[in-house]
Amino acid sequence: MRKLFAALAVGLAMVGCGASDVADEATMQEVLIMGTNAAFPPFEYYEGSEIVGFDVDLAQLIADELGMELRVEDMEFKTLIGAVSNGMVDMVVAGMTVLDDRLAFVNFSDGYFESKQMVIVRADAVDIESVDDLEGKRIGVQINTTGDQFARAYLDDVDIIQFNKAALAVADLKNGTVEAVIVDEQPAINFVAGQDDLRLLETPFVEEEYAIAINKENIELLEAVNGALASIKANGQYDEIYSKYFAETDVE
Ligand code: ARG
Repeated sequence: MRKLFAALAVGLAMVGCGASDVADEATMQEVLIMGTNAAFPPFEYYEGSEIVGFDVDLAQLIADELGMELRVEDMEFKTLIGAVSNGMVDMVVAGMTVLDDRLAFVNFSDGYFESKQMVIVRADAVDIESVDDLEGKRIGVQINTTGDQFARAYLDDVDIIQFNKAALAVADLKNGTVEAVIVDEQPAINFVAGQDDLRLLETPFVEEEYAIAINKENIELLEAVNGALASIKANGQYDEIYSKYFAETDVE
């Protein structure tokens, strides 16, 4: 996995080379840079000034397996694919769904989580019982997400409002600016938890799978990440972080 001797890597880091060649001078470990969009609980979110969540724990376990030091970079969701394809980050771990149009730009690791889209509406929206009732409504989505795509593909005559963060769409749902929000299952459960004024609709949308996006040319990292994922699933560490974040909300 290690492409360079540490001393060489430090030298290259100083002249500003690709993300995966950076080494931390204190530890002399190669640095693994993860790009994410930390507004997607419980996968990635802020706890004070720290980015935490299932994806961060998973990436940390992968970095440990590879003997690398993890660094997390928060950016807008719509910039993540570009950041990994131009080498600014080594990998994207962001609850990112494997999609054909993304596979044109990046490779994806083996899958690590199953999800689907859900619809959040206000509890008092008595006219919205199912997805069919969304016709003619204003729908909030996070820009460039599968929720954004699904709203366009499945719903007729809707007004789609794109937000940089799903949490902002939910805030606008609460204040009445939009009438529904389409977002991934676990974040949806998370946004609605403890909010009496919101409720979830079941949707007919298909299952999707989260995986780690990696630069198309970095086959070495792709294989290393897949190897690490397999070990983490086999040795019980995956189950540990799963129950840390999903014990109470698991709807399987
Ligand atoms: N799974 C969806 C997608 O890939 C949404 C992911 C949003 N992730 C985030 N960290 N904001 O499009």
